[in-house]
Amino acid sequence: MKDRFIDIFRSIYLEEGGIFIDTPAITPAKVFQASGHIEKFEDMAVKCPSCGKFSKIESSMKASGISNATISMENAKKLISESLLKCPLCGHPVSEVEMMNLMFRIPRREDQNPYYLRPETAQGIFVNYKLLLNQNRGKLPMIVCQYGKGYRNEISPRQALIRQREFFMAEVESFIDPDMEWDRDPDSSNAVRFLANSGRETLCTPAEALSSGIVSSKPMAYFIGITHKLLRRCGIRENHLRFRQHAKDELAHYSKDCWDAEAFMDDGWVEIVGIADRGDYDLRRHSEFSGEDFQTEGKKLPFVIEPAHGVDRIILAAMNSSYTKSDKGFKVMKLSPLISPYIAAVMPLQARDGLDAIATDFYRKLLALNSYVCYDESGSIGRRYARQDEIGTPFCFTVDYQTRDDGTVTLRERDTRVQKRYLMKDILSFPVLKNPLIMDDFGKINPDAAALLS
Ligand code: ATP
Ligand code: GLY
Repeated sequence: MKDRFIDIFRSIYLEEGGIFIDTPAITPAKVFQASGHIEKFEDMAVKCPSCGKFSKIESSMKASGISNATISMENAKKLISESLLKCPLCGHPVSEVEMMNLMFRIPRREDQNPYYLRPETAQGIFVNYKLLLNQNRGKLPMIVCQYGKGYRNEISPRQALIRQREFFMAEVESFIDPDMEWDRDPDSSNAVRFLANSGRETLCTPAEALSSGIVSSKPMAYFIGITHKLLRRCGIRENHLRFRQHAKDELAHYSKDCWDAEAFMDDGWVEIVGIADRGDYDLRRHSEFSGEDFQTEGKKLPFVIEPAHGVDRIILAAMNSSYTKSDKGFKVMKLSPLISPYIAAVMPLQARDGLDAIATDFYRKLLALNSYVCYDESGSIGRRYARQDEIGTPFCFTVDYQTRDDGTVTLRERDTRVQKRYLMKDILSFPVLKNPLIMDDFGKINPDAAALLS
């Protein structure tokens, strides 16, 4: 699923003219001095005197029935002195609060400066800005993308894929010249749910959000539209998605404005993508620390809009949106064919009488078109269908005795369980198999493919 996500991410950002790079995770301390992460990339943690564990203050506030999005150190201390903050793990009132830096420091020899594991891939892009701009022939806007692992020494890594110490990120830094107009128009066709930091909730297109002032900058409205398209391609349901603006005291140290794409999971809304307006913060700081000049012809620094995708959380949200049970109680993961681990499975009805040889040959031909197909010959055919339903494979092709006579196989469709026969040679030209991205922006099979399946 991660590979499939990367296919979607790459296809969307290649269309935007994105440049893709890969920089190291192990990073010299100086980079994070410049970026402000050593000083400011920290979370507030509370300690429980009873079980001895640290927890994020947000978890403690939730467990104590306090719903503020953020809290100051002073207020946290006051709540602790009144025994109002509880340990989310054992329920005992907590006794201490402190700020904890979230970066992993790599111990090195005494004569060496420390290194850190990157908490975001973004800094690898900022420190390579000059090389990248050269590659882009000096032109702005410049959109640079990077995917890879990020590492954070989270205070309480829990909730499965939601909070890990090592997670997969896909980040986009869009460098924009403040003297030039952003000339790409925000999406004006698809409505998105906006929750502004004023508390106002609106369902409108990104273009309308811009014209009505809900979103204040055109590139921000543009990237909200792009992110919405990407998340819908991942098969996250419309009513499971919203874009929430950060409150002023919630913003990261580098950020002027931020809209989080949030997905509805079991117990509430979870951030899956953060779209930050980083202004010129990073280039200014790196220029100060390195002495390099990053100014535009108009002697200004480019500003940056950054969609930062948490890939593990997006995958969890896609699974959450797709989980269903059949009337017989079997699990059916109705994943979009763009994100499912496999698009199709090939199976011989019986692994004998030459059916297995035909099926293997057909499987190899499909594999040459699309690497996301699998072959399964073990167990009864019903069990094999159930297994594919459970991992979300949209199509199964079954080779049976009739195949030997007329070259047709059965296509079984996951969501309708309808079975129809097709010639193997016709299936090999199904657009969806040749290129799943032929589907529309929202992961529905396009009419061409639908006609073949009807
Ligand atoms: P949170 O408030 O949940 O800690 P964050 O605001 O720190 O998240 P960002 O710094 O915006 O998250 O990181 C970008 C994206 O990376 C997030 O939208 C999220 O999807 C993902 N992410 C952040 N921290 C983790 C983590 N510990 N485990 C998995 N994914 C994460
Ligand atoms: N690069 C954005 C973040 O890590 O939050």
